[in-house]
Amino acid sequence: MKRLIRFLLLFSLSIAFTQAQQPGTTAAPKGVYQYQKPAYDGTGKVYMGREISQVMGHLGAAWLERPEREQEERTDLLLDALKLKPTDVVADIGAGTGYFTFRIASNVPNGKVLAVDIEPEMISDLNRTKKKTGLSNVEAVLGTITDPKLPANSVDLALLVDAYHEFSHPREMMTQIVRALKPGGRVVLVEYRAEDPNVPIKPHHKMSIAQATKEMKAVGLSLKSVYRKLPQQHVMVFERQ
Ligand SMILES: C[S@@+](CC[C@H](N)C(=O)[O-])C[C@H]1O[C@@H](n2cnc3c(N)ncnc32)[C@H](O)[C@@H]1O
Repeated sequence: MKRLIRFLLLFSLSIAFTQAQQPGTTAAPKGVYQYQKPAYDGTGKVYMGREISQVMGHLGAAWLERPEREQEERTDLLLDALKLKPTDVVADIGAGTGYFTFRIASNVPNGKVLAVDIEPEMISDLNRTKKKTGLSNVEAVLGTITDPKLPANSVDLALLVDAYHEFSHPREMMTQIVRALKPGGRVVLVEYRAEDPNVPIKPHHKMSIAQATKEMKAVGLSLKSVYRKLPQQHVMVFERQ
């Protein structure tokens, strides 16, 4: 009898522990990632059939801020396509130097931009530009490779420009990003078009619509629309299924 009571007690404790773990759990299910010999500019880590690319790194900061970027990528059209509301809370995830962060901040005067990156040098750049521009509705957030450190239910738009393909832990990151969305919130992925061989970007830094849709479906997001007017990139809008 004593043994039975002890068993039932341990059993119910283990259920309670498992349930308590769930809301904050970020660990990807076992076997979600595979490993192979890295291709050029790849990491050798494979997620849903795609080899994850290497991280661009802070040495690429000048490239992100190059003066010809607006014309090459029509970043002005991208900003229009986001259809921002003045009160929006936007998470710019993989914000880098803040090329989009600061352009968005002036469009959401009654909202804010949470600029997330994992590289401390990028966070320093973001804070320096914040000081220079005087835009008080920008908050730089040092995330980790598995967690953007966003509060649950807090974000109207999660924007990932040229960043998602280099997340080393895409399943964990996207699980947390979905958790951070307000009801009706959007995730916008902007990625160089893998379907187009004329886009002059290394293969692992591009993504197709089919691949992105498959990966977003795994975290409960479905593709709502694609903005097709940029010269080199897809703008893919996802919402909760
Ligand atoms: C190619 S840059 C793009 C920067 C910016 N979105 C832009 O378009 O100017 C990609 C950025 O993603 C960041 N990054 C990579 N993995 C990340 C992660 N798990 N969480 C947040 N940022 C990440 C890198 O540090 C880098 O600054």
